[in-house]
Amino acid sequence: MIIAIDGPSGAGKSTLGRMLARELKLLYIDTGSMYRAVALAVLESSINADDDIAVGSLASRVDIELAGDPDSMRVTLEGEDVTDRIRDEDVTHTSSIVSTIPAVRRAMVKRQRELGQRGAVMNGRDIGTVVFPDAMVKFFLTADLEERAERRLAEEREHNPSATYEETLEDITDRDRRDTTRADSPLVAADDAIVIDSSGQSIEEVFQRMMTFVREKADSVDG
Ligand code: DC
Repeated sequence: MIIAIDGPSGAGKSTLGRMLARELKLLYIDTGSMYRAVALAVLESSINADDDIAVGSLASRVDIELAGDPDSMRVTLEGEDVTDRIRDEDVTHTSSIVSTIPAVRRAMVKRQRELGQRGAVMNGRDIGTVVFPDAMVKFFLTADLEERAERRLAEEREHNPSATYEETLEDITDRDRRDTTRADSPLVAADDAIVIDSSGQSIEEVFQRMMTFVREKADSVDG
C-alpha cells in the first residue's frame, strides 16, 4: 500500500504523513529529506550546486539512509546523523536548486521506489506523478501562500529565532516557483489525486478527511 502525499512547501505534508503512517502502521518516507541530504553533501564538498554533472554524479554515489519510526525518523549521510542539520537555511536553499537536476532526481526516485516497495506513506512533490504513479491513494495537499509561510516560520524559529515573516514568504515563493517550473517532474497534482486545501483547517480535521478517503479506497480494493 502506497499513500502518496504531494504538495508545496508548508502545506502540512510531514505532520499529516507521520500521522497517517502511525495510524496505518506503515513506513513513513519523507523524500524531501533525501534531496536535503544531497544538498548537504554538495555544501560539504567543493562542488558547485549549479554543476549538474558533478552534483548528479555525487547524488548517485552518496550514502543516504532514513531510519526509525514516523515520529523519530533519523537521516544519515555517509553514516553521520544529519537530521537537524538538513533543516538549516543553507541546506533548504541548496536543496531547492539540486532537486531541479534530472540526474539527481533519477538517483533519488530509484532509491524511493526501493524504499517503498513494502508499502509506505511517502511525501514529496512527484510521488503520485513519477515515483509511484500507481499509488493506492494520492493526496495533493495545499494551503494559502500566507498560511504556509506562517507555518514554515513557526518551524524555522525553532532553529533560527531571528527568522522573519517577510524572508520566509520570499523564500517559500521562490521555492514554489522552482518546484512548479522545473522541466523535470514539476510539482503538479496527478489527474487522480485528491486535492485538499488545508487553509483555515486544523491538522486533526484534515487528518480525519484523509483517513476517510484511505478507508473508502481500502474497502473498494478489498472488495
Ligand atoms: O519537502 P522539503 O521542503 O523538505 O523538500 C526539500 C526540497 O526538495 C524542496 O526544494 C523540493 C525538493 N523536493 C523535490 O523536488 N521532490 C520531492 N519528491 C521532494 C522534495
